[in-house]
Amino acid sequence: MARKRIGVLIGGSGLIGGTIVNFYKKYHPDTMDIRAPSSKKLSLRQEADIRRYLLEVKPDFVINTAMANLGSDGQLAYEVNYKGPINIARATNALGIPFIHISSAAALPSGVNLKEEDTLPLTPLLSNYAKSKLMAEATLKVMAEQGGLDYSCIRLAIVYGAHDHKIQGFHRLLFSVADEAIPALFTKKNTLHSYTNARKLPHFIHHILENRDEFSGNTYHFVDKDPVDLATLILTIKSYLNLDKPREVYIPFRLANYGKNLIDLLLKGVRKLGIQAATPPELMFLDSLYNPQTLSPAKLNSSSFVDPMPEETIFTRLPELVVYYLSRWTHENLITTFKDILDEASVEDIFDQDPQRLLDLVHAQGLQPFADMSEENQPTCLKAKHR
Ligand SMILES: NC(=O)c1ccc[n+]([C@@H]2O[C@H](COP(=O)([O-])OP(=O)(O)OC[C@H]3O[C@@H](n4cnc5c(N)ncnc54)[C@H](OP(=O)(O)O)[C@@H]3O)[C@@H](O)[C@H]2O)c1
Repeated sequence: MARKRIGVLIGGSGLIGGTIVNFYKKYHPDTMDIRAPSSKKLSLRQEADIRRYLLEVKPDFVINTAMANLGSDGQLAYEVNYKGPINIARATNALGIPFIHISSAAALPSGVNLKEEDTLPLTPLLSNYAKSKLMAEATLKVMAEQGGLDYSCIRLAIVYGAHDHKIQGFHRLLFSVADEAIPALFTKKNTLHSYTNARKLPHFIHHILENRDEFSGNTYHFVDKDPVDLATLILTIKSYLNLDKPREVYIPFRLANYGKNLIDLLLKGVRKLGIQAATPPELMFLDSLYNPQTLSPAKLNSSSFVDPMPEETIFTRLPELVVYYLSRWTHENLITTFKDILDEASVEDIFDQDPQRLLDLVHAQGLQPFADMSEENQPTCLKAKHR
């Protein structure tokens, strides 16, 4: 049997990284071996970690989906989002293997039909996140042009998909609507944004790894074909959840911004009392709720990549995502309103009221050692290893 190709994925515990790990486990278990070290084992902040790990594993490619938390200070953003990817690129270039780097629409201004080259100018005024993502893109480009780096950069817009443990971006919006925390619409009419379907992305990554000649040295927008109006999306979630809020009233930007400044001021006061409190990172992007940002998918569409699920959009995915996240948040006690939608609520109820029943059930299902793992059933090479 041919040797499996080894891929190193940095950021495997995150929304995007987790989706990629699952994809390879499900669709290419016999040909691909994806190693996803935690940030404890390989921290992007430590050049030595990167060099040691990649020398040890000798992968065939590296994918970087890591990012510092949105609210991180300049040093962390610089080290994780900029220096880390550059050090990976230096390592992959030395090893002569491809590097796939995930970037963000934060590197772009607001506007419609933005092309891959329409990046923001690098200025001190940008957020730490945007600045560091932009810097990584710029340096990787130089390294490809001047140093022969084999890399591809994939820019994502607002991502939707399962496994977002940090509840960021679109999932924060879903949470806030479900939690009835938004009284009215913090946007204006016809504000269009691009969206990225997380579960389509691994198909693209796999395709570009298989076709380096076409994709090397290039940046692509990986977004759904059609942009989405923010108010329509919020009102669709609301009607799907059968809620009264938010009302269909548009809050003007000046009023929303005034509210945000008030929250900033209040939190500053609270911090003076020694209590840790930070403005929710999403509020940093208040402007973006009022300004359109649509990324052109023209370059993606004219490539050899074929969308594996052309009919799927954020609206078609919504029912499944709503059930997934509401059950998750209910189990985590973050939300209590939607207990009725959970099919498997009975386990929680039994655990709560009759734990002995669960204990008896597990005992009845069997506690003997897993037969297929016992010594005599293992391949000879493994038996030898254990001795
Ligand atoms: N989610 C979106 O809406 C969105 C939109 C546009 C672009 N993107 C881009 O997509 C990529 C993935 O985002 P995501 O939403 O999946 O992020 P995420 O869920 O926040 O996950 C971030 C990952 O980065 C890892 N990480 C953090 N610090 C690290 C360090 N020092 N060394 C190594 N790993 C570290 C984390 O590992 P630990 O948990 O172990 O710390 C985690 O696995 C990022 O490049 C982001 O800019 C995301």
